[in-house]
Amino acid sequence: MPSPQIDTDPIVSILNQIQQRGHSAYTIFEDWVELMLLGLQRRDDPYLEIVDDYSEPRDMDHSEGERTVDLFANAFGQLQKQMSETNADVLGAVYEAFGMSSDNFGQHFTPHNVCETMIEITHTVDEQPRNEGEQQVVIDPACGSGRMLLCAGHRIPEAVFVGQDKDPLCTKMTALNLCFFNLDGYAILGDSLTLEYCRVWQTNYSPLGGAVRELDDEQVQTLRKNLAPEADTNTSEDDVGVADSVGTPSIPDDTATEQQSLTVFQTEDI
Ligand SMILES: C[S@@+](CC[C@H](N)C(=O)[O-])C[C@H]1O[C@@H](n2cnc3c(N)ncnc32)[C@H](O)[C@@H]1O
Repeated sequence: MPSPQIDTDPIVSILNQIQQRGHSAYTIFEDWVELMLLGLQRRDDPYLEIVDDYSEPRDMDHSEGERTVDLFANAFGQLQKQMSETNADVLGAVYEAFGMSSDNFGQHFTPHNVCETMIEITHTVDEQPRNEGEQQVVIDPACGSGRMLLCAGHRIPEAVFVGQDKDPLCTKMTALNLCFFNLDGYAILGDSLTLEYCRVWQTNYSPLGGAVRELDDEQVQTLRKNLAPEADTNTSEDDVGVADSVGTPSIPDDTATEQQSLTVFQTEDI
């Protein structure tokens, strides 16, 4: 299957326009991602703090529609348009294209067609019948922009997708992508080798479109106990039971440690 043709130029040229106003490429991309994530969570105060950073007096010289905050909004509109046309990880593709001009960030993610093939050969699509309430869980412990999860999501949209990355920008892109593609999942910020969970965003499917929210500290620890019980040897059965109240996956012990590669396993209940 060929990779979808993603035209990143319209978005990159908008971000370049902001860069020409004296901001670094990394800051612009990071703020754009943060603005989208805060906007989707309706967290107005931190959103406006970022907007304020771009509202220096000379920004007001630009006509309406050309102010920096308008450019960020235009980039978001273009992102939505490209995603609806390609059904692909456009955000990750923009990161790849825009990051190439920066000394501070940039990496390449797995091409879409390779992701599709990997999902095929790892038998990610598990045809096993499930009990009512059970969902398959798909994990990528080094998720980047979450592209592998999105490709799996095309095949098994009813699964729960768990992405972990130690890079905050990547984790936030994964949270956005899971939300944009209306998938149930978790984007975990932390090192998957040390089973560290610093921050977690949960996304939820809804018929009206995806939702995203950041978990509080207690919910983060509960999720960690469920997904990585071996990380906390003092975990009591009572503690694990709390998971049900936040709707987190409860993973059987024998499979929870298999985080070496894209891994699929059954949940007891979610
Ligand atoms: C090349 S990307 C791959 C992303 C994605 N899996 C894909 O196929 O497109 C590698 C990612 O792994 C992340 N990473 C590397 N080591 C990690 C670790 N120990 N824990 C979490 N993330 C890690 C990096 O931050 C980077 O975003």
